[in-house]
Amino acid sequence: RRRLLGTASAAGAAGLVAGGAGGAYGYAATTGGDPLTSVGSTAVPFHGSHQAGIVDPAQATGHLIAFDLAPGAGRKGAAALLRRWSAAAETMAAGRTPNGDNQIALDAGPSSLTVTFGFGLGFFAKTGLQNRVPENLAPIPPFSSDALDPRLSDGDLWVQIGSDDALVAFHTLRVLQKEAGDTARLRWQMNGFNRAPGATERPRTGRNLMGQIDGTNNPKPTDKDFAAKVFVSGKSGAESWLNGGSYAVVRRIRMLLDSWDHLPLDRQEMVIGRRKSDGAPLSGGTETTPVDLNKINKDGSLAIAGDAHIRVAAPASNGGAAMLRRAFSYHDGYDQDGTPNAGLLFIAWQADPFNGFIKVQQKLDRADGLSRFIRHESSALFAVPGGCAPGEYVGQRLLE
Ligand code: HEM
Repeated sequence: RRRLLGTASAAGAAGLVAGGAGGAYGYAATTGGDPLTSVGSTAVPFHGSHQAGIVDPAQATGHLIAFDLAPGAGRKGAAALLRRWSAAAETMAAGRTPNGDNQIALDAGPSSLTVTFGFGLGFFAKTGLQNRVPENLAPIPPFSSDALDPRLSDGDLWVQIGSDDALVAFHTLRVLQKEAGDTARLRWQMNGFNRAPGATERPRTGRNLMGQIDGTNNPKPTDKDFAAKVFVSGKSGAESWLNGGSYAVVRRIRMLLDSWDHLPLDRQEMVIGRRKSDGAPLSGGTETTPVDLNKINKDGSLAIAGDAHIRVAAPASNGGAAMLRRAFSYHDGYDQDGTPNAGLLFIAWQADPFNGFIKVQQKLDRADGLSRFIRHESSALFAVPGGCAPGEYVGQRLLE
């Protein structure tokens, strides 16, 4: 009964067109039958001009892991590691068993597994490749509302794992960790989740832990300028290795859920500028109706408040700055004072972080009504190489 339903491009396009990344699922629910039977059999190709895990719909389970290169690993050690990691990721994404398997995912299909690799600034110093650091891989400037934990920030190497099955995701994590051997040491790990495919009647934009529909106004692969916003292109010389790649900004953003839950519904909706029930903008229409930032209510007030998140974050308020948000929620239990340690593993993808996350966060930092209910607790920026062809490994153009 199992069929291979949906390739990366079919699944990605369907999911994103249906309602944006961050929870829209592209499995073939429309073909009839039980959509759940397709979860295991959906495979996202590892090879391609871009790495998987950027444009594809965000999966039900995610692991974000940062590693630091061991002293002495050097460029040769890093290249061998990326070769091992790429081979293992390719094998598992196709639903095959990697070398020295531990049987954790033995009876599961690929379950939309994607593995994405990125390089932090420290990677270049430790591999003697300082002269190949891309210009835009500079430290993210501090923001006044930051409460960053350095132990959960930065890192030489970044791995993003996503799968619609939690055991497949954990299996991948263990295999890659084993393959790291003595070359790289784990620096931090974050575990996240999204709604599972099949949980809703039709694929639709997912909700975050504040209950909002999140991901609606993401750039769409069908937009004319999508690739220009998300992927690096046209670089020559020392940076040419990054063509086809992207920059990932990773921010672990805690939600102050107890304060949020005390806010009445109409106030919660004003904080974002959209209705909670269906994600429609407060300027009217449905979830996908363009936002009218100039609309005035009968009483003379702005329909989308001056400090509403979607006003302050919108490209129109930031000289066109845009990013693709592809997040996971997280919940790591409770702090001693009883407050939930939960929020968003916010991942922003853009061709230029200074004309994406950084420009927008500079504005949000000063003017966003949502900032009273969230706290940025960790931060990292990674240069994510383009995808590789069969027989190649991710990062080969930099490391060979
Ligand atoms: C839009 C939630 C942090 C950038 C939205 C929307 C929600 C939301 C519900 C409206 C639906 C949508 O278009 O996706 C949150 C939450 C956050 C958070 C809960 C933190 C926990 C951030 C950060 C940035 C950002 C840190 C960037 C620095 C944007 C952008 C939009 C957006 C660009 C689309 C605005 C538009 O053009 O309409 N966010 N957000 N968000 N958010 Fe956030």
